[in-house]
Amino acid sequence: MQLDLNAFKQQLALRKQLVDDLLQECLKEIDGYPPVIHEAMRYAVMNGGKRLRPILVLEGAALAGGNVQSAHHLACAVEMIHCYSLVHDDLPAMDDDELRRGKPTCHIVFGEANAILTGDALLTGAFEVMAAMAEKPGVVAARLLRVIREIAAAVGSRGMIGGQVIDLESEDQEIDYPTLQRLHSMKTGELFRASLKAGAILCGMAKPGIDALDAYAQSFGLAFQITDDILDVQGAEEIIGKPVGSDEKNLKTTYPSLFGLDRSLQLASDSVQACLDSLARFGTEADFLRQLALFTLQRES
Ligand code: IPE
Ligand code: IPE
Ligand code: MG
Ligand code: MG
Ligand code: MG
Repeated sequence: MQLDLNAFKQQLALRKQLVDDLLQECLKEIDGYPPVIHEAMRYAVMNGGKRLRPILVLEGAALAGGNVQSAHHLACAVEMIHCYSLVHDDLPAMDDDELRRGKPTCHIVFGEANAILTGDALLTGAFEVMAAMAEKPGVVAARLLRVIREIAAAVGSRGMIGGQVIDLESEDQEIDYPTLQRLHSMKTGELFRASLKAGAILCGMAKPGIDALDAYAQSFGLAFQITDDILDVQGAEEIIGKPVGSDEKNLKTTYPSLFGLDRSLQLASDSVQACLDSLARFGTEADFLRQLALFTLQRES
């Protein structure tokens, strides 16, 4: 399959716009007193993210042949969790970065304590939003419960948080390749997997399809984090919207630090091939996912 870069970028932009609109509405639903925390939550969410995880939620729902609208709040919840992870990731105690999505990081604008609380509020708010979906028409409660459990496990101590812990440990000691693979799959891959599967589970996809999407998202997460590491070395700050050289500053073990840039790109490309292979059971309805995987190798942000 060939990537039609311009056509694909347009598709991506349309989907991002939909997610931005949904997030705006969703944040209004959980707005309230005191104003400062809700302002900080909006600051951390409504700031130009690529919205890939919610786009995957909606794609999973569409591939299941379900009512995609029933997954709208799920898409928002997943992005809220992702945004919380970024607010905390940027804190002085973690990566200590001052730029995110082209703007000063949450702790720079609202102070460190408020940034910690903003992350907490986005995480808990996401679970409130997901639980409230049980009252929406067309949502099957048993499936929703499974989705919530999948997402909780993916971002918890055995998933994203565990990955962040290994990532911080890698600042003090060089970790080996198997540990680096595990770090990437936990800190980044788990949420991608849960996102794509969640939409599909909510809309009733059967197990063989879910397993294929799971394999896709696992490889996609790896390719995505390898390219994130590459962009940290050779990206342009005004395009990636975050500081270049953050990993080197923090002496992180990354794909480029272990393998160099060329070999890292080759490993990302291998993962993209694995993405394509995992979609063999799907026809043209999965072309968006195929294009998205190919696009990862060319992304500039
Ligand atoms: C950044 O994720 C953190 C990683 C897991 C690499 P994205 O590159 O998806 O960031 P946004 O949401 O577009 O800002
Ligand atoms: C962060 O990885 C992964 C998260 C769970 C937030 P990075 O630290 O590489 O993400 P960026 O480069 O700051 O976006
Ligand atoms: Mg980090
Ligand atoms: Mg970081
Ligand atoms: Mg990074």
